[in-house]
Amino acid sequence: MLVQNGWYHGACWQLRPCRRTSCQLFCFSKTEVQRTTSSAGVRGVPEKFFFSLAAPGGKKGIILMNIMQQDILQQLEQLQQDAQTALTQTTTTEAIREWYSEYLSRKGRLTGILRNLGNLSAEERPLVGKVANEVKAVLENALQEHQSAIARAELEAIRRTESVDITLPGRPQNLGKLHVTTRALRDIYAIFTAMGFQIYDSPEVDTDEYNFQLLNMPPGHPARDMWDTFYTTTPGLLLRTHTSPGQVHAMRQYAPEPIRVILPGKCYRYEAVDASHESMFYQVEGLAVGKHITFSDLKGVLINFANQMYGQGRKARFRKSYFPFTEPSVEMDIDCVLCGGKGCPVCKNTGWLEMLGAGMVQPRVLQNGGYDPTEFSGFAFGMGPDRIALQKYGIDDIRYFFTNDARLLERV
Ligand code: PHE
Repeated sequence: MLVQNGWYHGACWQLRPCRRTSCQLFCFSKTEVQRTTSSAGVRGVPEKFFFSLAAPGGKKGIILMNIMQQDILQQLEQLQQDAQTALTQTTTTEAIREWYSEYLSRKGRLTGILRNLGNLSAEERPLVGKVANEVKAVLENALQEHQSAIARAELEAIRRTESVDITLPGRPQNLGKLHVTTRALRDIYAIFTAMGFQIYDSPEVDTDEYNFQLLNMPPGHPARDMWDTFYTTTPGLLLRTHTSPGQVHAMRQYAPEPIRVILPGKCYRYEAVDASHESMFYQVEGLAVGKHITFSDLKGVLINFANQMYGQGRKARFRKSYFPFTEPSVEMDIDCVLCGGKGCPVCKNTGWLEMLGAGMVQPRVLQNGGYDPTEFSGFAFGMGPDRIALQKYGIDDIRYFFTNDARLLERV
């Protein structure tokens, strides 16, 4: 016999009127309960049914409700027991989540039981509701305690198995570096700007006119063979093969003022790619136009550049050459930076490295730029900063420059 909330709960296992007078309880036959419960909308006949001492014997309706109420109370009690047992068996946060969804969630068992509250009378509902809230509070408290115990245990387990040895040295961070071509370019800018040259931008996609015609190479000129390129689908528009068209752009902007500019940028050629040729590469063009500019000025500027770029005491030599847009034309070599002129694979055993092409600006090109060649003269040169970087840093293949392998940067 269990006393709860003023009600005496007892079970009568004889499904017929109870004759035990000491029991003093109201008992009903199975048929009687079946009949009355079905009319009150109670599902099924409980094998155990409960009754109240307080309920007067003749009032069937009230007693029936008491049966329902006791049924719910018993379910709540059972639920609390089940939930508490289940909770002690959960050992992980995940299992707790499952436990919560089984017992306390909106779709859980507690809500399931409370759905039947509507079947109770208005007087009974608050009582059962109160018990339900108590059960809920008890379970929630138990949950909270158990949850923090588990969290502590999990943390402890992590601490034991995944502990960090703070005395270990950190992993080194790889610092980025400038690309070797960028470094060469910046060195070149610094040297020439100190000599009074300005940096001038000119287009990478240019016209046949600027890339060839204005540089003294009309259509069909055999020198065009030296600069085979990529043509766009727009007739007359191509990827520039050298930075020299920038000479005419700069002259046309500044004529008749004297100018000293360098023109850096990418160039393109239809090349058979190998260790020293790429179809995309950098050039830096130089141009000085003014009155009384001579070949000595060109030599002076270039030797000064070579000494600053590769170190003082650099030996330079000028060989005669040919470019349609300079006259006379030369190529400048410096003694090999790697072997000091003795001969090595980099300089192909000549002791010299090719550095750039240069010359005095051809009068017709000056004219195309807007200068009167009887009054003005100028010099121009074009160098490859990729090549310079190759030589300076002893890299053996220009293709490394554009394959995005960061190990290249570790070599310099
Ligand atoms: N534009 C030439 C080249 O690409 C180099 C050059 C520039 C030569 C200026 C003379 C004067 O090879």
